[in-house]
Amino acid sequence: MKIISNPIKLKNYLKTIDKTIGFIPTMGALHEGHLTLIREAKKENDFIVVSIFVNPTQFSADEDLDKYPRRDDADKKICELAGVDILFFPHVDDIYSEDEVSISSPNIRGYVLEGFTRPSHFNGVLTVVNKLLNIVNPSRAYFGKKDAQQLNLIELMVKQLFMNVEIVAVNTVRDVDGLALSSRNIYLSKEQRNKALLIPNSLNLASNLIKNGELNSKNIIQKMRDFLDDLEILYIEILDREFNQIKNVKLKDTIILVEVKVANTRLLDNLWL
Ligand code: PAF
Repeated sequence: MKIISNPIKLKNYLKTIDKTIGFIPTMGALHEGHLTLIREAKKENDFIVVSIFVNPTQFSADEDLDKYPRRDDADKKICELAGVDILFFPHVDDIYSEDEVSISSPNIRGYVLEGFTRPSHFNGVLTVVNKLLNIVNPSRAYFGKKDAQQLNLIELMVKQLFMNVEIVAVNTVRDVDGLALSSRNIYLSKEQRNKALLIPNSLNLASNLIKNGELNSKNIIQKMRDFLDDLEILYIEILDREFNQIKNVKLKDTIILVEVKVANTRLLDNLWL
């Protein structure tokens, strides 16, 4: 595995590769969720590039940028063992300069749900993903369904900017207890983790309600709210795949999204129907 930190060097190197390139952008602290993205990418592409870059522009001043878990040595080993061909490991100065062109997230879809409580977040995500895709120029790029709004906005950016890459959505990976894997889970104490398990359980509750014929979004959301009463709920929404609110669940065209705060840790999860 080659480790490259200079974007131009990487771009020039990749120009010489006459293979399909699968790309997995990450912020490091790699876990089984990332490994699943890598495995999916390996099934469909001949050459695999992973990036590790804790992107400062997607954190606001009061967020956890300084505390964000960094496990550089372990991450390099994990990538090597997973059969990654190139690990792109840039420094902030390799990606950003002082006077920056940046991408804005759309005024509606970028400012609801997570974008409502973190207004500049998706500008940062889209800007860095745009840069990374331009550097790597992959055939396909892989993103987890856990970050459903991020995935939706990246798909929208690729479509609206006529970008030449296929975005592949990969199912959420869960721990044995049901909690969706996230690099932020390490912030949770044992007691907080137990509380956090209410999140996947609230989605199971929704799934059971739907199986028993309850399709009304308002009723399902209210039952989930009651169930999650002990936690600080940031939002619970029932949307179609285009991210429009829907009065009734439509099978094969619905996502139930939930975000809560456990202590200071924001935890996202969702159910795709
Ligand atoms: O999902 C993430 O890890 C990040 O938001 C991403 C897509 C790597 C952009 O920094």
